[in-house]
Amino acid sequence: MVQDDHRVRVELAERSYEIVIGRDLLARSGALLAPLARRPRVFVVADAAVAALHAPALKAGLEAGGLAPIIIEVQPGEASKSMTGLEAVLDRLILAGAERDDLILAFGGGVVGDLTGLAAGLLKRGARFVQLPTTLLAQVDSSVGGKTAVNSAAGKNMIGLFHQPVMVLADLDVLDTLPERERAAGLAEVAKYALIDDPDFFSFLEGAAPALKAGDKAALARAVQVSCASKARIVALDETEQAERALLNLGHTFGHALERANGYGPELLHGEAVAVGMAMAYRYSVALGRCPPEEAKSAEALLRALGLRTRVPELDGGPYPAAELLGHMAHDKKAKNGRLTLILASGVGRAYIHRDAEIEGLKVFLERECVG
Ligand code: GLY
Repeated sequence: MVQDDHRVRVELAERSYEIVIGRDLLARSGALLAPLARRPRVFVVADAAVAALHAPALKAGLEAGGLAPIIIEVQPGEASKSMTGLEAVLDRLILAGAERDDLILAFGGGVVGDLTGLAAGLLKRGARFVQLPTTLLAQVDSSVGGKTAVNSAAGKNMIGLFHQPVMVLADLDVLDTLPERERAAGLAEVAKYALIDDPDFFSFLEGAAPALKAGDKAALARAVQVSCASKARIVALDETEQAERALLNLGHTFGHALERANGYGPELLHGEAVAVGMAMAYRYSVALGRCPPEEAKSAEALLRALGLRTRVPELDGGPYPAAELLGHMAHDKKAKNGRLTLILASGVGRAYIHRDAEIEGLKVFLERECVG
C-alpha cells in the first residue's frame, strides 16, 4: 500500500491544523489521531450509509492506535442537517457521556461534517473535532475552514459557527465507493479553485478531465491536494469571511437559490447546483461587460468535460422560475441591507467580489437563463 501522505497546514495561530491527504488513512486513523486524544474513548458521528461501507475499517484503524470509538449514526441526506438533527446528535453525545475534552470525529460527507462540527462547537461550550470527509466535495471544500451549520426553514446554512477542526483526514481510498454522480459534484468545487485564481490548475484540469471523471486515483490526489492548499491559503487570510474568503462562494449564490427552489432534494446535489451557478456567474459577468465571452465559454467547457451540467433548463428537480430564484438570492446570507454581493469573474482564474449587484439587471438575466 502506498503511504506517501501529502500534508497541508491551515495556518490560524493557536487554531492551526493539518489536512492529511493520502491512501489507507482509515487503517492509520488511530496512529494519526491518538496524539490529539486525551483519553482512549473517541466519539464518531457517522453517516449511516458511509458507516455501512467503512465503519469496520475505521474502527479497526482507531483501535490499532489504542482508541476506543463510540459510533453514533445519522441518516444520510440534507434532512439531517436541521435543528432537530442537531439536537438529536447533541443529546446522543451527552447521553453517551461526551465531555468537552473528548475528541469527536465527523465521518461522512458535507452534511455530517457541517452537523458534527456545529454539535462539537456547542457541546459543553465547545469540544474539539476531527473531519474525516468521505466525499470528494467534503474533502476539497466543506471539511476545511471551520464553517459548520445546519439549515433553517429560511435558508441553507443559516444557523452555524466558525469552529475549526483539529485535523482533517482525507482518505483517497474511500472515494472508490463514491457514486460517479457525487464525484462529478465534487469536481465542481475542485474547478472552483481553478476558476477563482489558478490558471495553471485550470490547464491541469482541462487535460485531466477524462481521468478525473473516471475516478483515476493519481489525478484525484493532485486535485484534492491543490484544492486543499488553495482553500487553506484563503482561510488563513480571512477565516471569518470579511473579504477574500467570499471568493470561495463563486457560483454559490446562484447555486443556493437553485437548491432552495428544488427543496434540497436528491435531484440536485450541492456541487451540481454550484456548477450551474458558476457558469451563470460567468455568463452574468459577460452580460455586465466584465468578462470576455470566450473566457466564460472555456469555464463552461471545463465544467462540462468534468461531467457537469451548466444551464438551468438542463436540471432535474425543477421548476426553477426566475422570480423565485431572485427571491431566494435576495435572502442569501451574503445579502446585506438589501444589497446583493455576487462573486463574478473577469476571466478564467480571475474571480472578484461584485458588491451592490443591481437587482433589476439580475432579474432580466435570470429570466433569460431560466427559459428552456
Ligand atoms: N465553502 C465556502 C467556504 O468555506 O468559505
